[in-house]
Amino acid sequence: MKYRIKQIHCRPWTLNGLSLKLIESHYENNYGGALRRLNAITEQLAALDFAATPGHVLNGLKREELVALNSTLLHELYFASLGGDGQPTKGMSQALANEFGSLERWRAEFRAMGYALGGGSGWVLLTYVPRDGRLINQYASEHSQSIAGGVPILALDMYEHAYHLDFGANAKAYVDTFMRNIDWPALEARNEDARKVAPPRPLEQPEFGEVQGIGVEEVRDMMASGKAVQVIDVRPRHFVSRQQDIAADIPWRDPEQIQQWMGELSKSDPVVVYCAYGFHVGCKTAIKLREAGFDARYMNSGHSGWRAVGGPVKLYP
Ligand SMILES: [Fe+2]
Repeated sequence: MKYRIKQIHCRPWTLNGLSLKLIESHYENNYGGALRRLNAITEQLAALDFAATPGHVLNGLKREELVALNSTLLHELYFASLGGDGQPTKGMSQALANEFGSLERWRAEFRAMGYALGGGSGWVLLTYVPRDGRLINQYASEHSQSIAGGVPILALDMYEHAYHLDFGANAKAYVDTFMRNIDWPALEARNEDARKVAPPRPLEQPEFGEVQGIGVEEVRDMMASGKAVQVIDVRPRHFVSRQQDIAADIPWRDPEQIQQWMGELSKSDPVVVYCAYGFHVGCKTAIKLREAGFDARYMNSGHSGWRAVGGPVKLYP
């Protein structure tokens, strides 16, 4: 199916310091060009015998499809980013201050990234990342780099075609002009829409019922702050002998022998147990300890998670 053109969102005659000639050329030649390429590639792909096509031809076509599609989408966002009076709305000021410390800090960061691309080419994007509920200023060249699962909500086009007609090589003046033309109410609306995108589904382990998991970072912080917490490695014996390391200062106890060692633990301080990756053994051990009256939880991600966050380890035994 063909990709259809989107009407330009900003009203080109209202832009302050960006000429009609520039915007028309950008919309018709560069946005339109990307859309036309995208449709030509799509047509070519639809007619292609994938099984009989050499890998390098297929790779090339799919790469060009990605470039043309992202160029199309980002240009639509670019034109939708313009057309305002450059005055930040209350909602966006707050959202950016929450993320960057202050609105000014965000502005300085975004602007400097635009300046840095002057004379080169690429995009500066403000992108929402649903995984963490965060906004990030993103660099993207070749139209094709994107944050996986991210939702760009503001686009600054730093290809020369976006400014050369009006500004020559003065990319800084173009960036400043762009900032003065941001349509903040539209940006705020896109930010609200982006926040409705669900984060990646969390891991669920309903078979372990009510028992609570705790994050690796949280455990590390508790230990570093000297909190009275009893952290125990309960990986099955064969894991410990295969991996040959253990988190420093954390005892190992055989989960098969839980009845023999649980008596050593204090009931007044919390207990955290973990296995290799955060699945069965850690969870089941935590359940057994809770049944025996301990304030026990299991650590998400297990020993692998501990290593992945750079937690200290030592050789074992
Ligand atoms: Fe462009």
